[in-house]
Amino acid sequence: AAAPQGIPIGAAASADEYGETSPLLNPSYANLLSSQYSMLEPGNAMKWDVTQPTQTTYNFEPGDELVAFAQANQMRVRGHNLCWYTQFPSWLQPYAATATPAQMATLLQNHINAEVTHFAGQVFAWDVVNEAFDDSSAAALRDSIWYNQPGIGQTGTGYIAQAFQWAHAADPSALLFYNDYNIEEPGPKFDAVLSMVQDFVNNGVPINGVGFEMHVLSTYYPSATQLAQNMQALAALGLQVHITEMDVRLPVDASGNASAADLQTQAQVYQTIMTVCLQQPNCTAFQVWGVSYNDSWIP
Ligand code: XIL
Repeated sequence: AAAPQGIPIGAAASADEYGETSPLLNPSYANLLSSQYSMLEPGNAMKWDVTQPTQTTYNFEPGDELVAFAQANQMRVRGHNLCWYTQFPSWLQPYAATATPAQMATLLQNHINAEVTHFAGQVFAWDVVNEAFDDSSAAALRDSIWYNQPGIGQTGTGYIAQAFQWAHAADPSALLFYNDYNIEEPGPKFDAVLSMVQDFVNNGVPINGVGFEMHVLSTYYPSATQLAQNMQALAALGLQVHITEMDVRLPVDASGNASAADLQTQAQVYQTIMTVCLQQPNCTAFQVWGVSYNDSWIP
């Protein structure tokens, strides 16, 4: 209600992707999701381990359930993700161990094409490549089966550009994002991402924005000034920012309870980040990682 430009407010959500009873069937979960949010993103249902269970089969059914829920409740869907270094089906790492770069390129192209085509017109924005840079002071590209082990036959950030091109070919209307964490404040990792996306923009690689995951702590989070600075640097390139996975970790006692003071701090951190997003015209979506802390990945 406070958002003048009506930005979507989203949550990571689950269906039955790992064989569980779908939480969408739980009335309190479903009601909270549909009444408090205007967007959802599958927390796991669109990742490789779910969507390509064998080399020759795809499974989009859990993602379809989340899309159907979203459509029934007038919510948008963010897609997550097409190319990451982890959360693979069990056959993939062994396959990569003996595959050629040409075979890996075919595999990735087919996966991106199949998934983006399947969800075309239903997913408005995709995290095409997720978490490609490491957390060292060099902010190097992470080793991965897509980059260099064996990779898809491209040097440097070329594999990332290639993934964006394949995604764009499969759904020219979808907004395409690079998504990562620890890029919410200035530093080497943000610099590496900025220089990559600058290069993409200069070379016509189809990218629309950068996802700031925003997994922060009550004791450590970007200042409003730092966050605004990074959003503005991307705005200068004509790129959007989505806050994609916000949560705020708190210390808990032996019974798992947080103090009232820490909960108050947590609320203030959400307010700080949301306020910056509302002030920056290129911050166009705000999402939290879980419908509530009852289904968070945080222990
Ligand atoms: C997490 C999920 O929430 C967990 O259920 C899963 O076991 C591991 O992945 N960055 C991302 C998300 O981009 O995909 C991750 O989600 C959290 C960190």
